Amino acid sequence: MTTTAKKFKNPRAKHDFKGRSCSIVAVGSYVPEKVLTNGDLEKLVETSDEWITSRTGIKERRIAAKDQFTSDLATQAALRAMERGGIKPEQIDLIILATITPDMPFPSTACLVQHKIGAHRAAAFDIEAACSGFIYALEIGQQFIMSRTYDTVLVIGAEKLSSIINWKDRNTCVLFGDGAGAAILQNRPQSHGLLTACMGADGAKAELLCMPGGGSRCPATPESLSAGLHYLRMDGKETFKNAVGAMCTAAQEALRRCELDITQIKCFIPHQANQRIIDAVGERLNVKPEQVFMNLQKYGNTSAASVAIALDEAVQSGRVQRGDLILMVVFGAGLTWGAAVIEW
Ligand code: UT7
Repeated sequence: MTTTAKKFKNPRAKHDFKGRSCSIVAVGSYVPEKVLTNGDLEKLVETSDEWITSRTGIKERRIAAKDQFTSDLATQAALRAMERGGIKPEQIDLIILATITPDMPFPSTACLVQHKIGAHRAAAFDIEAACSGFIYALEIGQQFIMSRTYDTVLVIGAEKLSSIINWKDRNTCVLFGDGAGAAILQNRPQSHGLLTACMGADGAKAELLCMPGGGSRCPATPESLSAGLHYLRMDGKETFKNAVGAMCTAAQEALRRCELDITQIKCFIPHQANQRIIDAVGERLNVKPEQVFMNLQKYGNTSAASVAIALDEAVQSGRVQRGDLILMVVFGAGLTWGAAVIEW
């Protein structure tokens, strides 16, 4: 156990987990090669680099190739995590993939990834919690490990948001990008790991951020297509307000459960949607600028992949060392939100 580990409470300890511990043994991420800059968007819609940068902090985003799907992005991220962790495909017991842009409505994208990485022993399913998906998936994965059901779980957040963007709508098309991030969870008793994760939702505000078409309420028809119902829609202002409140509450709850103070957090990784949201949350939580990890300037909002990619970049860049405490906070459609404390 590290020195840091002795200074906080592990909320899992009060349960009868007897020697079980959920460790994040490796992370990986992948973003497509194609870069779409704010300058490129100026040619598509009436916008400007100045507006996008000052209102969001985003400078560019990655766009998947036509023949590259969410399962392909997820597979690349998973393979990188497996290589770093020395995990063989046959060791994986379960794959949980968070996405709102599956390759198709069914079968699940997790099943497609299972085949692509050769994890033939693994059970596989998708979850849908929009931008909160990676934290939801981490928490679900952890439950399987702590309950002794599985020993090795692959958790992925992956999106090809470019496939549901209306490229004529300047309110939304400047905000999003494609990418994937993955984490491998294992039972490693007495080791570092996921200390707590909290999740929340408010379905009364489902309309604020949604894609109305394509489900059982509004199946695809020529009329639904011409009405643009298969594109992502967002009430930006209301979403913004809800995001700040929910992210602060979730972060405080996660810290409270571990009896931690924000000053003990080495790296604060918020959902990468808008720099102004991150600044507002940081200010309310008294987070110092040097604690905040941000990469939205490079990738925009990649929904379920957002904090997963950021965690990988924080680790690979050396911003986070073994034993450091990380606070991750997310918010998305549903509405959904969540936070997790990790001892890296
Ligand atoms: O991942 C889930 C969580 N997602 C979020 O949390 C996103 C939350 N929302 C936001 O990040 C912000 O609300 C936006 C970035 C989407 C918008 O920023 P805002 O400060 O709330 O701007 P606004 O919606 O109030 O729009 C201000 C103006 C409008 O013009 P009028 O009506 O004042 O004349 C918009 O039409 O900016 C206009 N506008 C643009 N102008 C240039 C909207 N998009 C653009 C654009 N370029 N791309």
